[in-house]
Amino acid sequence: MKFELIEKKVSDIDADLEIVFIIEKNFEHKWVKDKYELKLLNFKAEPEEVAFLPHQRRVYVGAKNLEHDEIRIAAAKAIKTIKNKKFKSAKIGVYIQNCPITNIKAVVEGMVLGVYEFDKYKSKKQKSDLETIYIAKEDYSDKNFTTKNAKKSIKEAVIVAEATNFVRDIINTPPNEINPVTLAKLAEKMANEEDLECKILDEKELEKEGMGAFLAVAKASTNPPRLIHLSYKPENAKAKIALVGKGLTYDSGGLSLKPSDYMVTMKADKSGACAVLGIIKAAKKMELPVEIHAIVGAAENMVSGNAYKPDDVLKAKNSKTIEVKNTDAEGRLVLADCLCYAQEKVEPDYILDFATLTGACVVALGEYTTGVMGHNNELKKRILEAAKASGELAAELPFNRYLPKLLESKIADISNISSSRYGGAITAALFLSEFIEEKNKDKWVHLDIAGPAFVQKEWGYNPYGASGAGVRLAIKWLQKEFVFDKKHP
Ligand code: BES
Ligand code: ZN
Ligand code: ZN
Repeated sequence: MKFELIEKKVSDIDADLEIVFIIEKNFEHKWVKDKYELKLLNFKAEPEEVAFLPHQRRVYVGAKNLEHDEIRIAAAKAIKTIKNKKFKSAKIGVYIQNCPITNIKAVVEGMVLGVYEFDKYKSKKQKSDLETIYIAKEDYSDKNFTTKNAKKSIKEAVIVAEATNFVRDIINTPPNEINPVTLAKLAEKMANEEDLECKILDEKELEKEGMGAFLAVAKASTNPPRLIHLSYKPENAKAKIALVGKGLTYDSGGLSLKPSDYMVTMKADKSGACAVLGIIKAAKKMELPVEIHAIVGAAENMVSGNAYKPDDVLKAKNSKTIEVKNTDAEGRLVLADCLCYAQEKVEPDYILDFATLTGACVVALGEYTTGVMGHNNELKKRILEAAKASGELAAELPFNRYLPKLLESKIADISNISSSRYGGAITAALFLSEFIEEKNKDKWVHLDIAGPAFVQKEWGYNPYGASGAGVRLAIKWLQKEFVFDKKHP
């Protein structure tokens, strides 16, 4: 499916179908040409409500307002309605209000995200006939709404949404195909295609680096661990960013075995890892003016006679000792070492980690929202603003002076789980904080994507399966921080 900007009125464009959003139930808009038929269908233009009129060759979708995520959701609805019909092209106008440029982005993102389907393992695949979406650039007075800007917006939206779909594909791929070694190969292939630097550390090198926590988690699996380090280094980079991702290609819980019902979907415990791969891919394609390092800790948390055990004491890369009380709290062990590695090798200006870290985060915020944690309130605020602009849901979970005490161990420097049942998302983040050097505390933000990473029941533009959470949020944050000027939305 490709997008074409046409400098004509929507009504003057030749296409098989027209997509019309009805905003705030305004049936009086000039593009609503089938009021009578819509009335017969009892179409109320509620958000996400669709009316498909094949004879009129129009699809109507309701939208609450012109906020960008409303547009994304409406665009996704429209595309889902028409993608398996026999139409080759569709056209859509750009609604004014707010900023037409960002409206274009939202339309394109919504369509690319909405058309996504994971059918790799289906014997019968449905091929969509839909080839081209024409976007009408009518002559609005907004001076930013130049053809050049509009085309750039379409291009950027496609890059970000396709990177999100790339991430969804890897996460959705089952664990008998994606293990730490194959994930590393896939990352290497992507690095070659995108012209990124790529370094892969195997178990021997992890040992040399002193990554005892990471190695312990990986010990029981026949698939050895890998640390994946991709870098994008543009000239005159404005900053150095380390993105660290939890890459548990499977989390059975280890000896603290998960009950079967909770084990299903744990192929998605690599979502943080896949997100950072998608972010660096999109950043490179967009030529963002920042040096980015994507660091992935890939391991499989399994059971065997060689498994790490509750009661083991591990030594992390920064020499801190960790008492293992639960082998299912494995992500923080892998990340502890990867965060140390990122600080030592990259010396970054910012460190963001992405992880499906805790069920507690899902309990706290629900299945749709990423938990944002860290010591730097200003930075967290900017990340939350970027999330909102990107259409991702995120909320802060606050640290306090009492919670760190819950991680005290009687025999080691720290325990891998909290002594309390409550506040588990925050204590997990505070565990990670133990591996952030004092000078870097304010540079670090932890994003717990356990809720939104994997979708059990489709919502918005997310079908069943991986959502690609983190990609759009991070790209928007990078743009806001290093590309946009203050006035840009
Ligand atoms: N991968 C899980 C967290 C998770 C849960 C992700 C649900 C996605 C959906 C993580 O490794 C884990 O098992 N965490 C434990 C921690 C506990 C043992 C302190 C949890 O959340 O129960
Ligand atoms: Zn676990
Ligand atoms: Zn896990």
